[in-house]
Amino acid sequence: MILNILFGTQSGNAKNLANTIGNLLEAEGIENHVNNMADVDPDEIHKFTSIVIVTSTYGDGEPPDDASEWMSYLKFGEVINLSHLNYAIIGLGDRYYPHFCQCGKDFDQYLSKRGAHALLDRLDCDLYFEEQYEDWLKDLIVVLKNKQQE
Ligand SMILES: Cc1cc2nc3c(=O)[nH]c(=O)nc-3n(C[C@H](O)[C@H](O)[C@H](O)COP(=O)(O)O)c2cc1C
Repeated sequence: MILNILFGTQSGNAKNLANTIGNLLEAEGIENHVNNMADVDPDEIHKFTSIVIVTSTYGDGEPPDDASEWMSYLKFGEVINLSHLNYAIIGLGDRYYPHFCQCGKDFDQYLSKRGAHALLDRLDCDLYFEEQYEDWLKDLIVVLKNKQQE
C-alpha cells in the first residue's frame, strides 16, 4: 500500500505540514508520496487506495486555488464511485472566519458521499496548527499499520 498525501495551499502551511507528515510516516515504515493537488489530475483518485488531504481554506470558505479542481471534480463529477478508497483529512484554517476549515469539511463530505471510507475523524486546525496534529497523527499511524497487516 502506498499512501498518497495531497495538499492544497496558498501560502505554504499545508505544504509544510504535508511534508512533515510524509517524513514522520516514512520513519514509521509507511511509504508515501507527497504532492500538490494542482499537480495531480483528479482522475488519478481512481488509482489511489489511501489518501491524506491537507488543505487550507480561503476566501469565504473556498478551497485554495491548488485544490479547486479536485473540489469541483468531487462535487460535480458524474458517476464517481470511490468505495475502494480510504481517506484522512486535516483542514487548516482560522476560527476568526465564519466558515472555519470549510474546505476540509467539504472534501470530507464529498468523499464520503462518493463512497470513500474515513480512516479516522477529520482534524480541523486553528492557527498554530503545528501544535495540534500530533495526537491525530499518532492515531492515523495506528490505523495505517493495522491496514498494512490486513
Ligand atoms: C484572505 C484569507 C482568507 C481566509 N479564509 C479562511 C476561511 O474562510 N476559513 C478558515 O478557516 N480560514 C481562512 N483563512 C486562514 C487560512 O486557511 C490559514 O491561515 C491557513 O493556515 C493557511 O494555510 P496555507 O498557507 O496552506 O494556505 C484565510 C486566510 C486568508 C489570508
